Amino acid sequence: MKKILVTGGLGFIGSHTVVELQNEGFEVVIIDNLSNSKIEVLQGITNITGKKPEFHPFDLLEKDKVQDFFKSNEIAGVIHFAASKAVGESVEKPLMYYENNLGSLINILNGMQAGNCNPIIFSSSCTVYGQADVLPITEDAPLKLAESPYGNTKKMSEEIINDTTKASNIQAIALRYFNPIGAHPTAEIGELPLGVPNNLIPFVTQTAAGIRPQLSVFGDDYPTPDGTAVRDYIHVVDLAKAHIAALKRLLHNENKTAMEFFNVGTGMGSSVLEVIHAFENATQQKLNYKIVGRRAGDITAAYADTALVNKELGWKTELSLEDALRDAWHWQLKQK
Ligand code: UD1
Repeated sequence: MKKILVTGGLGFIGSHTVVELQNEGFEVVIIDNLSNSKIEVLQGITNITGKKPEFHPFDLLEKDKVQDFFKSNEIAGVIHFAASKAVGESVEKPLMYYENNLGSLINILNGMQAGNCNPIIFSSSCTVYGQADVLPITEDAPLKLAESPYGNTKKMSEEIINDTTKASNIQAIALRYFNPIGAHPTAEIGELPLGVPNNLIPFVTQTAAGIRPQLSVFGDDYPTPDGTAVRDYIHVVDLAKAHIAALKRLLHNENKTAMEFFNVGTGMGSSVLEVIHAFENATQQKLNYKIVGRRAGDITAAYADTALVNKELGWKTELSLEDALRDAWHWQLKQK
């Protein structure tokens, strides 16, 4: 059986996608350099699915290794997650972000061409829309100037892939994720933030667990119903399943153009305070939080119009915000 390559397959979204691929009967091979993941994730995946995926620990910037990999393996499709993703770090180290995120993508695309491999699913982000003028956000909303080098690598990666699909047989889908949260309901895999978390949910669960004394709510003077910023939080298992739907669409030649773009969100916006209260309800934990000033670079509100992805991929979310928060909490409780 031909294999699906998952780059960054030991990361947060990657590992959940590997689980769903294996549940669907796909054979998976992972390339991950362990820069922001742990080898134990492989065991978590194995515990859930009963099957250990093939794993190659190397860096996608090693062009020759990538070429050799595609020449010596029959790969039926690629899901490309591997990338650096810390917004603040990208502002401090822009060249590292451009080199890592764009260089590894270019090596993958070159490798795919050398190995006559097709198609690719790309891990993009709603960050390409910036603060959209119209909510909910549709896929044809204008792309805004990126707020950070990280965001810019997502935009540029989409363009690099799009140009490549025009000049080769490669077909692609970019999935623009809204805010992925949660963990696997078995608590075998989840998010593993390095150091102090930047994202809301890991900060919430670490505060509830007593690792952090207090959650700062960044701003309550936004033009939203309760003044706190609004996002579209999607359970990582639902998000993982969108990748399977996208992969099948391309493998079955059901795509309408060589490159397609889909928003992957729930379609529902939740404010920071709503998330805090949903967490307290779902877990019966009281959260110590304090309103502070806005975080630089944050937008007011973003949530997805999911009509296109629902129709074209035949995919929709099945899990609620409370499910995601409960699963994130159970995962947190398992961490030492
Ligand atoms: C952030 C990134 C975005 C990236 C995404 C990936 C920024 C500015 N944006 O999105 O580019 O694609 O992560 O997951 O970093 N919040 C608090 N207190 C906290 C943490 C967050 O109030 O301690 C608030 C934020 O102000 C925001 C919301 O919670 O309103 C969600 O924050 P976060 O989880 O960091 O996601 P985004 O900012 O949407």
